[in-house]
Amino acid sequence: MINFNFNQHEHIDTGVLIIGVPDHINQLGTIQYKNHDLTQRIDDYRHHHIIHNTLGKVASTVLPLESETKRLITVGLGNLKTLNYTDLLKVFGNLFQFLKEEHITDAELLFDTFISKQITQDKIIEVLGLQSEQAIYIFDNYKSDKKVPYKLDLHITTQDTHLETHLKQGIIVGQSINLARDFSNIPPNILTPSYFADEVAEHFKETKVKVDIKDGETLLSEGFGLIHAVGKGSIHPPTLITLTYNGAKEDEAPIALVGKGITYDSGGYSIKSKVGMQTMKYDMCGAANVVGMIEAASRLELPINIVGVIASAENMISNNAMKPDDVFTALSGETVEMLNSDAEGRMVLGDAVFYANQFQPRIILDFATLTGAAIVALGEDKAALFNSHAENEIQEILASARAMDELAFELPITNTEQRLIRRSDVADLVNHTNGQGKALFAATFVTHFSGTTPHIHFDIAGPATTPTNSFKGPKGPTGSMITTVLNWLRN
Ligand code: BES
Ligand code: MN
Ligand code: ZN
Repeated sequence: MINFNFNQHEHIDTGVLIIGVPDHINQLGTIQYKNHDLTQRIDDYRHHHIIHNTLGKVASTVLPLESETKRLITVGLGNLKTLNYTDLLKVFGNLFQFLKEEHITDAELLFDTFISKQITQDKIIEVLGLQSEQAIYIFDNYKSDKKVPYKLDLHITTQDTHLETHLKQGIIVGQSINLARDFSNIPPNILTPSYFADEVAEHFKETKVKVDIKDGETLLSEGFGLIHAVGKGSIHPPTLITLTYNGAKEDEAPIALVGKGITYDSGGYSIKSKVGMQTMKYDMCGAANVVGMIEAASRLELPINIVGVIASAENMISNNAMKPDDVFTALSGETVEMLNSDAEGRMVLGDAVFYANQFQPRIILDFATLTGAAIVALGEDKAALFNSHAENEIQEILASARAMDELAFELPITNTEQRLIRRSDVADLVNHTNGQGKALFAATFVTHFSGTTPHIHFDIAGPATTPTNSFKGPKGPTGSMITTVLNWLRN
């Protein structure tokens, strides 16, 4: 928990002073603290390599003043002419991780030393807010030896007092990412589809977000044949969670956000290898990230309508499980020959997308850890985006991803794949191809169910999790595409 205070002039008596240090100190103007001009001293410290201007490099030293001695913590800003959003993520990520490691509980940050020639102070403080949450996230709910929660009183000194709202917006986004991470991290024996649904409902009770849950029996009786098929091998029945947030007039067409919520993907009868199965609790990251996006949109009070649809199921093996060669009837009324039970994501999404389309959305965005093939194509750190009738919107979203430091690239849907998804001897569609291009096939299958509605499919199999710690936080779930989509929704 970081508690922020704003003050304009009167300096708070904390033992720690935090300053940003650029390559050329004169770019900052004077660094004034109380009645001291620290500019020369900071430059001397830098000259003697006691502190650093290298981008994101944190240093700590002593700052003797007339009446008191303080601890000075600096973070390098590099060249202010080129300092961009990604750089700021690094600056504040490294800073907050340092403050936490050093158990600093009280500090004053001279915000007016954090400037860029490219980015406004509003945006800079938003990044600070974002990183105060995102960068120091931990998940130790299932450790006996829990870390004492980190507490910091951070006094922000700035001449610009209207910055507080921007700081809060950054904090909201950071907390939404951490909410998504929390759901993703819960072990799969606990986070079953119904537990997931109940926790989402619990989280949004007494908010503007309405939550509706369809349980396994309801899904069966209402014709969600593909979600039911995937979930029926598990003792934990599937669920469909619908979230609605109305920030605009009730009759305005919503944006639909659809999430793959496979709480565990064993592969089913098309079973995964023992190594392939590890980490498959993360097969609900798409759904968790949709929850995070809606959390942020509602707390930011965005003037739009959103409908969130999460299809949740556990992909398991039992007497009752689906098996290759089975045929199921989708909510759309079409029949699907199920040739590979490990291609379960596109099945649950087929019904979820068809259902979302009934809300007559402006556009559908779906998020899914859908294929290993997307990782083969783009590597572990990039999202594969596919557009169906959304040529302009995908360009906007790709630009938003670049601005938000998330890696996202477009892959195509062509007539080749349109033919392949129909290549079944017995049914209308088939869920699997033995050929190459498996990410494209899956994307085509999923977007088939939205017809001509603009639809962008996000295959986040790679970036949903990260194998390494960074200035964005610990290894594990990342909240992939939350900042990209929010930035797009806000503009
Ligand atoms: N959840 C997996 C995709 C996945 C793999 C996500 C690795 C993250 C890391 C998905 O359900 C799956 O099993 N896809 C198969 C599809 C195949 C059977 C056509 C795959 O990619 O191997
Ligand atoms: Mn699978
Ligand atoms: Zn899966």
